[in-house]
Amino acid sequence: MEKGNVYFSDNGYQELTDYLKNNQNFSKIFVLVDSNTSEHCLPPFLQKVGILKDYELIEIEPGEDNKNIHTVVGIWDTLTELGADRKSLLINLGGGVLTDMGGFVASTFKRGMKFINVPTSLLSMVDASTGGKTGIDLGNLKNQIGVFSLPEMVIVSSEFLSTLEARQMRSGLAEMIKHGLIADKYHWDRLNDLDNLDLSSLDSLIKQSVTVKIKVVTEDPTEQGLRKILNFGHTIGHAVETFYMDTDKMLFHGEAIAIGMIAEAYLSTLKTGFEMEDADKVKKVILEYFPKTEIPKEDFKAILDLTKHDKKNVSGVISFSLLEDIGSCAYDCYALPDEIEDALAYYME
Ligand SMILES: NC(=O)c1ccc[n+]([C@@H]2O[C@H](COP(=O)([O-])OP(=O)(O)OC[C@H]3O[C@@H](n4cnc5c(N)ncnc54)[C@H](O)[C@@H]3O)[C@@H](O)[C@H]2O)c1
Ligand SMILES: [Zn+2]
Repeated sequence: MEKGNVYFSDNGYQELTDYLKNNQNFSKIFVLVDSNTSEHCLPPFLQKVGILKDYELIEIEPGEDNKNIHTVVGIWDTLTELGADRKSLLINLGGGVLTDMGGFVASTFKRGMKFINVPTSLLSMVDASTGGKTGIDLGNLKNQIGVFSLPEMVIVSSEFLSTLEARQMRSGLAEMIKHGLIADKYHWDRLNDLDNLDLSSLDSLIKQSVTVKIKVVTEDPTEQGLRKILNFGHTIGHAVETFYMDTDKMLFHGEAIAIGMIAEAYLSTLKTGFEMEDADKVKKVILEYFPKTEIPKEDFKAILDLTKHDKKNVSGVISFSLLEDIGSCAYDCYALPDEIEDALAYYME
């Protein structure tokens, strides 16, 4: 078994069961949940992993607002009180907030204990739980503090999704669309086909997205180059997400990325020779899933300012990952302020 491997459904539970059987020298096993995953995901999880009887449960409050150092200190304290050490194991059962934070806690507690991710939201299945990025927010700076650290394994089981809110599902779908656009035209084509999207095809679509993500991060684990293509849609998307945070237009991450992908598809036509016809297609398909958010022209400047704060920028130049073609993406592309405003206008028109 290689660190960071992803296993699916019942095969995944079997791998986990075997892993626990073969590693009985764990001093203690901890399961980290939030109040939602404690209610909806813990019972089916324990049923599937019958071997897991002797464990300590740590429950935190759900949501991005709690993805901070205070919650981390709370978990470190609880681990200490319960006698955790470097030979303990932490199982993260939850969405991306929980897998990011749990991974960070495990990687820093006594200089590192092992952890396993069991993602329960679509976004964490196809994105957050794999690739080794762990971390927390600092004030309103997202993922400002963190380390690269791989879980022992990731178990992806779409059964958890039956209790996930529809809006959260759609948020995860945006990252899947991104995976198709940047690296897998066939995946994109399948996701285009709205009418044929049902739960039975969801499993294979999730698998396909995970395959794209793993392929990219395996080639470039610490984002020196290629991994940047995963940021397609995210430079403008993050700025829009931040701008509407704490307003009544608050957007979920994937919803903001959907906007970002449309705007950056347009930027691609200016920078990489991406066909306008393809940009229009991207826009049309994404808008079928994600109804348009009204972004008034007077907000463009402030959103533009926020793109300047993106972690990916170096020495003040705004960097983008842009489509060359459907299924192919370039990185380290640069755009001018006017062009970024035009891209927002393209989204709105
Ligand atoms: N590490 C990475 O590479 C990476 C990549 C993308 C996103 N992320 C991070 O992921 C986070 C977003 O992830 P998210 O959207 O999963 O957020 P989340 O963890 O907040 O989950 C969304 C909500 O759904 C609930 N929930 C989760 N699974 C459920 C289920 N099966 N049934 C019912 N409710 C359920 C959660 O309790 C929460 O309220 C962000 O913090 C982002 O920074 C990380
Ligand atoms: Zn994202």
